[in-house]
Amino acid sequence: MIKVENLHKHFGGFHAVDGASIEIETGSITGLIGPNGAGKSTLFNVIAGVLPPTSGRVLMDGEDITGLKPHELFHKGLLRTFQIAHEFSSMTVRENLMMVPAGQSGEGLWSAWFRRGRIAQEERALARKADEVLEFLTISHVADEKAGNLSGGQKKLLELGRTMMVDAKIVFLDEVGAGVNRTLLNTIGEAIVRLNKERGYTFCVIEHDMDFIGRLCDPVIVMAEGKVLAQGKADEIMQNEAVIEAYLGTGLKNKMKAGANA
Ligand SMILES: Nc1ncnc2c1ncn2[C@@H]1O[C@H](COP(=O)(O)OP(=O)(O)O)[C@@H](O)[C@H]1O
Ligand SMILES: [Mg+2]
Repeated sequence: MIKVENLHKHFGGFHAVDGASIEIETGSITGLIGPNGAGKSTLFNVIAGVLPPTSGRVLMDGEDITGLKPHELFHKGLLRTFQIAHEFSSMTVRENLMMVPAGQSGEGLWSAWFRRGRIAQEERALARKADEVLEFLTISHVADEKAGNLSGGQKKLLELGRTMMVDAKIVFLDEVGAGVNRTLLNTIGEAIVRLNKERGYTFCVIEHDMDFIGRLCDPVIVMAEGKVLAQGKADEIMQNEAVIEAYLGTGLKNKMKAGANA
């Protein structure tokens, strides 16, 4: 579905992504791991149109999508989750979801509100859709809660929920597990697997929790110093000498332990 060819992203003289080539198969949950500073988030940001690449190409189903803007990629079904913006935190969870089809596609916030007021029928359909999404994610009980009052994990579920308000094909998740307790991380994992199996979503997931990556992801791509170091099944990757080497200093074992205890 996604093919990244010899991608470079330089910040001044610093090569954050240094000739990375990856492929994400349709229907996969592909993991992306690597030590801090490996260039994972930068690679995501280039694929998702947040940053222009220095050189290289990104293809989606064979079409060159390099340098397209996030809202253009959104219309193609390529989504990157992002944190709930400050101005949305005082809106309810349901309202946050209802804003997505208009708000995230690049339409202005006010015209979206205006449209909502004028077209009551469309609004009811959106509210129904939002309620379905909340039920799917098992957070119906917080539908009328202000988004700013949610726990860290519930916010992550809401971020995932926003991808369900539109016809997403591929979703990029950057550190879904950061600051999330074990129970909610499992809920997020289950939601990802169900979206993959039941709705055909393809995922690419950056995560430090090796247990989470091991259970969900096949294949796993390892990045270090802006380059792709290895790709394979999670258990093979963990045995790979070059991968273990790349993690030395930060300590793969410590990370796995930290993941297991989180
Ligand atoms: N906007 C930027 N300007 C300068 N350097 C950046 C910028 N964004 C990221 N970097 C640097 O690029 C490297 C890779 O960062 P990042 O992609 O966030 O790594 P990861 O997500 O793997 O931890 C880091 O050394 C980081 O400091
Ligand atoms: Mg990162």
